[in-house]
Amino acid sequence: MIQSAYVHGYSEREAARLADQANTLTQILHHDTRFPPGSLVLEAGCGTGAQTGIITTQNPDCRFHSIDISQSSLDTAEERLKKEVGTCVNQVTFEQADIRDLPYDDETFDHIFLCFVLEHLPEPTKALNELKRVLKHGGSIMVIEGDHGSVYFYPPSQPAIDAVQTQIELQHRSGGDACIGRRLYPLLAESGFSEVRVSPRMVYVDASKPELVDGFTRKTFTAMIEGVQKDAVAAALISEERFEEGIQGLYRTCEPDGVFCYTFFKATGVKCR
Ligand SMILES: C[S@@+](CC[C@H](N)C(=O)[O-])C[C@H]1O[C@@H](n2cnc3c(N)ncnc32)[C@H](O)[C@@H]1O
Repeated sequence: MIQSAYVHGYSEREAARLADQANTLTQILHHDTRFPPGSLVLEAGCGTGAQTGIITTQNPDCRFHSIDISQSSLDTAEERLKKEVGTCVNQVTFEQADIRDLPYDDETFDHIFLCFVLEHLPEPTKALNELKRVLKHGGSIMVIEGDHGSVYFYPPSQPAIDAVQTQIELQHRSGGDACIGRRLYPLLAESGFSEVRVSPRMVYVDASKPELVDGFTRKTFTAMIEGVQKDAVAAALISEERFEEGIQGLYRTCEPDGVFCYTFFKATGVKCR
């Protein structure tokens, strides 16, 4: 089942990492996450709600159905929204559901939003087709994904590249694709969406942006790679020493002369048929 294969797991640490990621990247990823007032929006794979607070705050006149396959993540998301975003909580209905088999009638939603979800699904096209089914004609889908093949940094470190590669391989073995960002255009087009547009969002980090050094390089990207150490070593993809050297290489990019680059991809499409 997808839930047990989910490469990042459901720990408190992972929830904190997703929250750091969402907060740090709000401007870069979400400055244009806007839906027409009055819209009913499906947020698919909301997890612990790291994006939910942002998109509901930015769209106070829309209503959201935020779904996830994990009930415990939904409980955390609901708690978080009550605590952190208080006033928006009535805007959102949380519901446990599987993206591949949605409990909604055809053409229920005006718009669909999903972030960092397709990368975990063995059959992303199947999920996109199901999401398209519940989307109204003329409605839009908005998808945000990363691409771990887009990582480069200074100073160079081959062990760091090797450690990142273990994460890509583990995700591949559990049926996902950590480099899915570059596939968003073909995936949406194959699923029959029209007017597909993809906007690459590069996160460029150096010492002049200390909030990104901490919030993105350290607490988002390096924390994510650190999180797979046990599994990568257990799968004999890398030795413990090499992995740790790789993590040190990633932290080294946070020093005053370090640079780190990563590109997210944000795609939109419209249901015309
Ligand atoms: C990396 S998390 C992203 C969560 C959230 N969108 C964010 O950006 O913080 C991926 C989420 O997709 C959910 N997920 C995976 N497969 C799913 C499926 N088949 N149906 C619904 N949710 C699913 C997982 O439970 C997890 O919460």
